Amino acid sequence: MATIEVKNLSKSYFSNKKSPGVWMGIKNLFSPEIIEKKAVQEISFSVKQGEFIGFLGPNGAGKTTTLKMLSGIVQPTRGKIRVLGFDPWQHQNAYKRQFALLMGQKNQLWWDLPAMESFLLNQKIYEIEKGQFKKTLDELVALLGIGDNLNIPVRNLSLGERMKCELVSALLHSPKVLFLDEPTIGLDVVAQKNIRDFLLKYNREKNTTIILTSHYMEDIQKLCKRVVIINQKIFYDGLLSKLIDNYADSKIITVTFSQPVNKNDLVEFGKIIEFEGVRARLKVDRKEAKEVVKKLLSTNLPTDDFQIDEMGIDRVIRNIFQGVENKNQ
Ligand SMILES: Nc1ncnc2c1ncn2[C@@H]1O[C@H](COP(=O)(O)OP(=O)(O)OP(=O)(O)O)[C@@H](O)[C@H]1O
Ligand SMILES: [Mg+2]
Repeated sequence: MATIEVKNLSKSYFSNKKSPGVWMGIKNLFSPEIIEKKAVQEISFSVKQGEFIGFLGPNGAGKTTTLKMLSGIVQPTRGKIRVLGFDPWQHQNAYKRQFALLMGQKNQLWWDLPAMESFLLNQKIYEIEKGQFKKTLDELVALLGIGDNLNIPVRNLSLGERMKCELVSALLHSPKVLFLDEPTIGLDVVAQKNIRDFLLKYNREKNTTIILTSHYMEDIQKLCKRVVIINQKIFYDGLLSKLIDNYADSKIITVTFSQPVNKNDLVEFGKIIEFEGVRARLKVDRKEAKEVVKKLLSTNLPTDDFQIDEMGIDRVIRNIFQGVENKNQ
């Protein structure tokens, strides 16, 4: 049985249309105009135990809404969810003890108290046995390197330190399923990497099933083999490597020269996206990259070195949403 099973899941938010003016206000009071916002439409996917999947999509795509439905915070409008055999909306304690939701944009720890106080509260809520609690806490604190921060009020911690404490708080009860909604948002590159390394290790060691949303492509590329791309509906569900194979339309060739060259001499090879005299970056059709390099090497240009790179995955995703016809823009 799959750990997470989602079938034809939809969520609409309903609100009253608020028109300006007193008269419209009175009119709305008696015959309110209801607006339906379709956040998620008919999505289906399943996740196996131990999988670490990336949930991608533009702002407003329905990612947070989906994670909230999987956590039982938001009620689905239609469709079916089973996580570890539970329907999240039933709010059973047995389910609550086995999953965690971490939202990078929200502070889930007590702001004015040291993180340790929140951890102790979690111990009570989740009824974690004392010995087990200490063992898990020590392990997480060592893995994340935050021993010094546990007794400082959360409001005085840096964003990166706080996020690590949030992670500890989410993992103290050793959830089998973990929903991470932008856990690295706003962090500097070093803190982002720390959290990524931790998550990779944690997933491998504990075989925890993880769904991660992030707008940082490096998070996704380093952590998730499989990605689901949504924008209300699912646009792609499969291997990240296949996604790049199927949708990356170009490659980037970086060439260095032993002496400065003329920019005009490079025009015939591809679209010049950067030029500094002794170094240039060219965007070329994916299928022609090898040919272009061959051609470059056979000219009189003083080519010293070159490198071929895949297009960034954010660009790949933009291609998917723009459709094939616009992809060369
Ligand atoms: N409580 C709510 N009431 C009304 N509309 C909502 C509510 N929550 C979310 N929405 C709308 O549902 C849509 C999906 O929102 P959601 O937060 O799930 O997107 P997201 O993919 O997480 O975006 P982001 O990348 O910006 O975090 C948005 O258009 C949003 O405005
Ligand atoms: Mg979101």
